[in-house]
Amino acid sequence: MKHALRYLFFLLSFVQIIFSCNEPAKNYDEPFRPQFHFSPQKNWMNDPNGLVYFDGEYHLFYQYNPLGDRWGHMSWGHAVSKDLLHWEHLPVAIPEENGSMIYSGSAVVDWQNSSGFGKGDVPPMVAVYTGRRNSDDRQTQCLAYSNDHGRTWTKYDGNPVLDIQSNNFRDPKVLWHDPTSKWIMVVSMAAERKIRFYGSHNLKEWNLLSEFGPAGAVAGIWECPDLFQLPFDGNPDSIKWVLEVDLGSKAVAGGSGGQYFVGDFDGEKFTLDPHFLEAFKDETKEPEGIVFESFENGYGSWKTEGDAFGSEPAKGAFSYQNPVSGFYGQKLINSYNGGDKATGKIISGTFKITKPYINFLIGGGNDPEKLFLSLLINGKTVLSATGDESESLNWKAWNVADFIGEEASIEVVDKHTGIWGYIMLDQILFSDAPALPRQESAAWLDYGKDFYAVASWSGIPENDGRHLWIGWMSNWQYGQDVPTSPWRSAFSVPRKVSLKKINGQIRLAQQPIEELHNLRSEKTTMQSQILSASKVIDLSGIKNPSQLEIKAEFEVADTSAEFGFELMCGEDQLTRVGFDLQRNTMYVDRTRSGKVDFHKDFPGVQTAPTTLKNGQLAVHILMDKGSLEIFINDGETVMTELIFPDPQKKEQRLFVKKGSVKLKSLDVWQLKSTWN
Ligand code: FRU
Repeated sequence: MKHALRYLFFLLSFVQIIFSCNEPAKNYDEPFRPQFHFSPQKNWMNDPNGLVYFDGEYHLFYQYNPLGDRWGHMSWGHAVSKDLLHWEHLPVAIPEENGSMIYSGSAVVDWQNSSGFGKGDVPPMVAVYTGRRNSDDRQTQCLAYSNDHGRTWTKYDGNPVLDIQSNNFRDPKVLWHDPTSKWIMVVSMAAERKIRFYGSHNLKEWNLLSEFGPAGAVAGIWECPDLFQLPFDGNPDSIKWVLEVDLGSKAVAGGSGGQYFVGDFDGEKFTLDPHFLEAFKDETKEPEGIVFESFENGYGSWKTEGDAFGSEPAKGAFSYQNPVSGFYGQKLINSYNGGDKATGKIISGTFKITKPYINFLIGGGNDPEKLFLSLLINGKTVLSATGDESESLNWKAWNVADFIGEEASIEVVDKHTGIWGYIMLDQILFSDAPALPRQESAAWLDYGKDFYAVASWSGIPENDGRHLWIGWMSNWQYGQDVPTSPWRSAFSVPRKVSLKKINGQIRLAQQPIEELHNLRSEKTTMQSQILSASKVIDLSGIKNPSQLEIKAEFEVADTSAEFGFELMCGEDQLTRVGFDLQRNTMYVDRTRSGKVDFHKDFPGVQTAPTTLKNGQLAVHILMDKGSLEIFINDGETVMTELIFPDPQKKEQRLFVKKGSVKLKSLDVWQLKSTWN
């Protein structure tokens, strides 16, 4: 009976998923509904998947929960477009079924029918995705195919095609490698920060070719890799390969971000260009001070309770724990002794507070209630800290200026028994200035907080020749809490990717696709003029202020100038896109951009390195309901940020805070909606 009920339950949710067609939008006019970006009509969406062009249609599949507006029941949603602007929603393509979610992956057209899935003359479309067994999180690579241009899909009955008994093995990207006549699968070993390359002749049998990583930024898990070749500076005789890897963690790059590596791929192995990473050095700002405890000589006067902390400091990671980094010397405190489920406590002897800061390297799970470090004075907690779900320890600092002269002790507590149920601590340092968290430096794709899991289209016709991709415009820190209903999340605009020489280095540039010009309607133009601190230019009077394309060129002789745009302003509201030339940065300040209080990690100021080019700065902004994408100097620097402004507060201004700049040209277009 129990079995029959369970079966019925599975059957019902499957039927519900299959028929939950993401119907064509009616008005698409809810608050913050993107007007020229893709979003599902309702429910939750994350990564773009299976992007492929076939017979005049661009396919867009995506991580989709057909049953709710938060992550869960992941299936592949589906939409198609003929112009990359207007999308037709189609029913769920590949549903969660038999206790297995459909995680991210890619799709190809199997022109030679190497897989044998084809029928008649029409080549099959083959999707390669991660099947995630819900009972134990086992992740394996699986196939599904379609013989009707993606309208219906059949899961391969020989699934999985690749199983290494891991629960951190996912997001396969498959591409055809012509010189060696085989399929390549690029897939992530998320926890190990490694990318694996497999080869196959039929998409069904795969051999391991090589591995890449860890390299670049590693503080977060590695997800959603992509691999493709591009001409360097448009020269078809100078081909380079780009390996793109996303980095997901609460601790790094503001939560979720993407990095890339430039090198060569010979059909077996990705070899990084020897000098590529040289420009990226992690920055640590660690003050001078007195080391109170380094745990190099055992626990000393520290007393433990429970098992989590063992009888002596750990020498790095325990077996079954992911690699641990960022600690000093050979030893640290690590409450994974006995796994996530172990609990316990460790407390220092008392000491006198003599300096205004207590700094420490901390890592592990994030739970201020059950997993924390606290400063006790007279037995009472006066300050505490928890980890950021990272195996890489990083600096945090307590300001203890008010407690100088007091007797104190430090307690580390682990009462957390689930996933991420451990805390790590090292190098307690007393100092006059705070230690600042180490910032991982890497070749970031986008300096904003809302561009993740980017994926590129396969099968773009040669006569088009562009490399196009699209990213998830959100962040795992707060994506499930954004104030939109009945859907959550949108994708960036499709972007054209190229490799350029920038300041003597090979770097990736991204630009919005030219097709977006077709959405331009009313245009406002401004005469060339000198702007200085007293002068604010009002761009109001635009009817549809939250759907704009802004193109501006500035000529700047004064290299200490600070200027930019203030968008969607009104009482208590403004989003600032500024350029601070003295610091060579661009910034987006969304602390007062409208609705910001739905999550503590949402408000904030993001910065990106930005320099003038021959004394000029070219700014290109796409603003939709709910988002901003900013492309500087032909896409050499990009920033993508969500914003949720009150549409009634709609003034747009040009501001100059310091110095003066020459506005050479300014064009502002209102953009038409793609949904009506
Ligand atoms: C990235 C990701 C992928 C995974 C998918 C699940 O955002 O975590 O690694 O396949 O989301 O929805």
